[in-house]
Amino acid sequence: MNLLLENKINKALKEIFKRLDLDEKYAFVKVSDRADLSDFQCNGALALAKIAHKNPREIGAAIADELERCDFCESISVDGPGFINIKLKNEVIAQNADEMAKDERLGCGLTDNPHKVVLDYGGPNVAKTMHVGHLRSGVIGESVARIERFVGNEVISDVHLGDWGTPMGMILSEIERQDGNLDKVPSYDIAQITEFYKQANIRCKEDESAREAARLVTAKLQGGDEQYRKAWQHLRSESLKAIKENYKELDVNFDLWWGESDAHTACQDVVKIAKEKGVSEKDNGAEIIRLEESNKPKPPVIIVKSDGAFGYQLTDIATIKMRVEDLGAQEIVYFTDSRQTLHFEQIFEAVQKLGIAPNVKLQHIVFGTVNGADGKPFKTRDGGVMDLETLIVMSKDKVRQSLPKAGEVAGYGEAEIEKLTSQIAIAAIKFQDLKNTINSGYVFELEDFAKFEGKTGPYIQYAIARINSVLRKADAAGLKCGKIILQAPEERALALKLAQVHNVVMRAHSEKEPSIIAEYTHGLAQIFSTFYNACPVMTAETPQLAASRLQLAKLTRDVLKLMLFLLGIEAPEVMLKAENKE
Ligand code: ARG
Repeated sequence: MNLLLENKINKALKEIFKRLDLDEKYAFVKVSDRADLSDFQCNGALALAKIAHKNPREIGAAIADELERCDFCESISVDGPGFINIKLKNEVIAQNADEMAKDERLGCGLTDNPHKVVLDYGGPNVAKTMHVGHLRSGVIGESVARIERFVGNEVISDVHLGDWGTPMGMILSEIERQDGNLDKVPSYDIAQITEFYKQANIRCKEDESAREAARLVTAKLQGGDEQYRKAWQHLRSESLKAIKENYKELDVNFDLWWGESDAHTACQDVVKIAKEKGVSEKDNGAEIIRLEESNKPKPPVIIVKSDGAFGYQLTDIATIKMRVEDLGAQEIVYFTDSRQTLHFEQIFEAVQKLGIAPNVKLQHIVFGTVNGADGKPFKTRDGGVMDLETLIVMSKDKVRQSLPKAGEVAGYGEAEIEKLTSQIAIAAIKFQDLKNTINSGYVFELEDFAKFEGKTGPYIQYAIARINSVLRKADAAGLKCGKIILQAPEERALALKLAQVHNVVMRAHSEKEPSIIAEYTHGLAQIFSTFYNACPVMTAETPQLAASRLQLAKLTRDVLKLMLFLLGIEAPEVMLKAENKE
């Protein structure tokens, strides 16, 4: 079901355009930029006039004349150079909201082209502490996964763990250097493993022989050396445990926990295909695929290094092969920062040359960096990289300041307060991220991001909790939701905003842009707040009006909850703080 007011008008416009012999391509409306003048506007007359060398106001007037006859319009005017402004009848908007309330999808439609999408997000690395860059990839990816599923696509999300490259050889060779052998590896926990990696990094930066040793170990590990494989297994599983905990806390989920290493066999297949098809060639002992230089010179893809090891590029190419052949992917989308733009351009082109993903849409979505107040990448107080755990702890500490202590509110002991703190803190982090367009970086607002006012996650959660409280009161008083009646301008504005939800979700889906949903959600919460201040539910003038307003409130709550769900954010039943305020 698709309950879109725009569709009603578009359908009528199409018929009118046909009758007037105008190009139907322009027969559509958009939500008005001037809410004071109209609900929707059609700018088709301007484009048509340009083509026909006519006066746009004349064409606009002819269309408006015909529209006058439609039973759903309250008023139509042609303004400015030829904008057609349309205001709908209140009953039409009310009926639409009634139908939305009855629909389990709240009026949201499905994609007409359902297909299988593999989403590659997260991408943490073994033995590296997760930082804010991994936050963005995980948070955006989770939201896109939920949006894609909601519109009817089959989604497989894969974490693509970085567990197979030179860093693995670096850690193992560092441990060998310090311990003399690998015997103690099974006893190392994640903190110790991370420390080895840090030291390996420093040593390899300074010392060519350390780099050489790491390369050798990497090649041996990939070649199947049992001892290295066993030690590596431990590093991998310890890391994965820590990573899973981080993601669980963030409510970022994956269907598959595959890593680069899982593509090893497919890597061998790809090398074979490349050689057989004559796509690759030998170059200084390495096996490479040269790329076109049509737009800009692109370095070749190195599929096998001169020491025989497989690198990041080959694992990604092989993973595409697996996703297409084993999972049946029709679309694969990656989420990383801009430092990997060239990498994906290279591997997408190599994949095309190899012919291993015919008719599969490959897309790399680039997100901007999270910055501190100085506009530079977000750091801790002492100048280090802000890791994910520190960020979560910081956010929770902030939220705790606004909540009552354990035991202060009946039914809220330590565990309940902690759960609520976490739900609000994660909402604060995620919403602050998702309200920005993916492409742009943003400044992490240390002071404001967890406030219950402003454009924040907690503000939306608070709006939902307030409505929950209204619904509970109504329930206790025996008041039921009824047919929607739109009298006050605030009621009308709310119902009109609610009617946009399908369009908002569809745009967020087609642009893979959760910020469209975040923006709408914030706007809806604000409009609700205006409505609620002007139009009380329990003390409405008539029982019919009370029932109508209750329905509007419930529908708003349901839409807000759905929107938060699509952003990957939970909506607690009560916020405690909210309760205290009322
Ligand atoms: N592990 C990589 C990193 O931390 C990100 C992985 C992105 N996904 C991929 N299929 N290459 O930079």
